[in-house]
Amino acid sequence: MNSANANWTVESTLVQVGVGRDQATGGLSFPIYPSATYRHPALGESTGYDYTRSGNPTRQALEEAVAQLEGGARGLAFASGMAALTTLLLHFSAGDHLLVSRDLYGGTYRLLDQIFAKFGLDVSYVDTTDCDAVEAALRPHSRALLIESPGNPLLGVADLAQLGALCRAHDLLFIVDNTFLTPVLQRPFDFGADITVYSATKYLGGHNDLCAGLLVARTAELGERLYFLQNSTGGVLPPQDCWLLLRSLKTLALRLERHNANAQEVAVWLQEHPAVTAVYYPGLADHPGHAVAKRQSRGFGGMLSFRVGTPDKAARVLQRLQLISFAESLGGVESLMTLPAVQTHADIPEADRLRLGICGSLLRLSVGIESVCDILADLEQALSD
Ligand SMILES: Cc1ncc(COP(=O)(O)O)c(C=O)c1O
Repeated sequence: MNSANANWTVESTLVQVGVGRDQATGGLSFPIYPSATYRHPALGESTGYDYTRSGNPTRQALEEAVAQLEGGARGLAFASGMAALTTLLLHFSAGDHLLVSRDLYGGTYRLLDQIFAKFGLDVSYVDTTDCDAVEAALRPHSRALLIESPGNPLLGVADLAQLGALCRAHDLLFIVDNTFLTPVLQRPFDFGADITVYSATKYLGGHNDLCAGLLVARTAELGERLYFLQNSTGGVLPPQDCWLLLRSLKTLALRLERHNANAQEVAVWLQEHPAVTAVYYPGLADHPGHAVAKRQSRGFGGMLSFRVGTPDKAARVLQRLQLISFAESLGGVESLMTLPAVQTHADIPEADRLRLGICGSLLRLSVGIESVCDILADLEQALSD
């Protein structure tokens, strides 16, 4: 039994994840159950677990914790964010039309464009920071809106309440990839979302040592449908990794406080730097999505992007980094910098990328939880010629 109390704050709920579940020993840390299969007590009877793809106690502890954290009916854990997205997209049928944020993780674009398109899924990429543009892109066979907010890598902010209302009016499934902010900073179900998606590889895992994905369904009915797809396709998260993710969740709120504070300071500092020509961070007062972000989220997150004069300059910055690692991914305790045009967003056709402003001089920084003085000192030396 989970001892979680509905009156606890999100911070306390996170710390108490799994506590009180291990009835056999009272262990605070919920155990890893590696068993692939389970003995039946008798013909037609089950302990509740038959086969680990269909159900595993450690995965169940994680999935219930995540559902509770998000305020949803059901959580489902997958071997990666892409496995979660693939499973989710299998909910749709050939001929269905999806509206999708154009400021999108490149891997999601690749999945839609190079795989699901072959199976007849029709996708329009729209500027989801503009609700009118989303409405204008609707078609009679539109079934869902899939957004990332803030967007990746330009940190555009969508108005969740407006989009939620639009989805309700047009009977669209509203799906939010909430990887950048997590349920601690942004709660999409409060704005009418039906399903949330996470690359738990990022902030939820938080230590760059785990690859995992999550789906959370707001209603039991949707949860049942997604469970059917999870069990049928099998991209589940192994029990050892479920345990690691349970352990990581305990410090999520604390880590995010530091990510937020550091990112805000770095963004302001970058704005003042002569070698930097633009900074994209929703916490900056002049960011176009600042007011909406302030209204709908509890913090602006740890992700920012910035431009330097030329691609050569960007390459030199990456080359000179010392504390900050030149590496893909985001959301871990260590600061990471990437060049989206050739890494995370390489699969987006060049013309589209350039139209969006994802060019060789745009750098994306996942601000870690190191001392901000050390992060700024590293940026200073990397930006100096
Ligand atoms: C916003 C977002 N969604 C989904 C994914 C895919 O997750 P994973 O790398 O865990 O498969 C990523 C990966 O970078 C991401 O940034």
